[in-house]
Amino acid sequence: MEHVSVLLEPSIQALNLRKDGIYVDLTLGRAGHSSRILQAIPQGHLYAFDLDLTAIEESREKLSKIGDNFTLIHSSFAKLKECLASYGVDKVDGILADLGVSSPQFDDPKRGFSYRYDARLDMRMDVTSPLSAYEVVNTYSEKELLRVLNDYGEERDAYRIVKNICKARQDHPITTTMELVDIIKSSKSAATLAKKGHPAKQTFQALRIEVNGEAKALQAMLEDAPGMLISGGRLAIITFMSLDDRMTKLRFRELTTLEGDRHDIFLRPEDIATPKFHLATRKPILPSEEDLAANPRAASAKLRVLVKD
Ligand SMILES: C[S@@+](CC[C@H](N)C(=O)[O-])C[C@H]1O[C@@H](n2cnc3c(N)ncnc32)[C@H](O)[C@@H]1O
Repeated sequence: MEHVSVLLEPSIQALNLRKDGIYVDLTLGRAGHSSRILQAIPQGHLYAFDLDLTAIEESREKLSKIGDNFTLIHSSFAKLKECLASYGVDKVDGILADLGVSSPQFDDPKRGFSYRYDARLDMRMDVTSPLSAYEVVNTYSEKELLRVLNDYGEERDAYRIVKNICKARQDHPITTTMELVDIIKSSKSAATLAKKGHPAKQTFQALRIEVNGEAKALQAMLEDAPGMLISGGRLAIITFMSLDDRMTKLRFRELTTLEGDRHDIFLRPEDIATPKFHLATRKPILPSEEDLAANPRAASAKLRVLVKD
């Protein structure tokens, strides 16, 4: 399936693009957002990251038709700061992240992201990485697996699923998505199975986050990206999962809240550090009715925008 970019217009607006600005797209995908950025910055430069080599190669072709003022980087955006430093860049006008998996990744049965197709357990965005879902499912200890399912899937039946995975793999390794789906189904009550939504959704989400180091990458990026913005620069983040949205919201809140104890009567006004950032909008920006009709993936999307003062 073609990737339909979510919250495209509002996120491009949010970046407040300047013709000669330097912008970073942390999640290139099929260059939906990057194409729009590149069109708007004829005298500027775009740096775009992706873990997925296919995304990089397909997007290179697409972006070359617009201009040559871009650099594609095959790396996790966790290394944003050091990668840009290697190009002599430490300050930028805007940074965009459109988190998660792209439709071409999810809908390609060979990539093993989906519980709908039978495939080898894989789920790697970066096919050169040594850790796939196969290793997580077959080599992680019971305790580690439980942590993954609890922390990244908020899976209510995590304990039973993990017990059943560990039992099944004593016999032979669990190699395919459907073997895992069957184990998950056998771990749930009939009442839970009758509920809306696929029973393997939370477990697959949790494994995908672990395999691709998604939570750790977001944490590292949220730490570094704000400090790279010039005055007036923007950091726009689109999330699809409550875990990512919570991390983004908390970090933005931390950066936009006054430091120190406001009630300390001995503090002089000049001693009170004022925040160096503000939020573009107090509430997150949500998809329009049109977005929702065009793309079911958009249902859980939220855009939050941080502005450097
Ligand atoms: C939702 S898609 C982005 C779609 C893109 N905005 C578009 O309009 O085509 C997310 C992309 O980010 C990539 N990605 C996810 N986590 C990443 C990370 N930590 N570092 C670099 N790329 C990442 C995925 O491989 C995927 O291609």
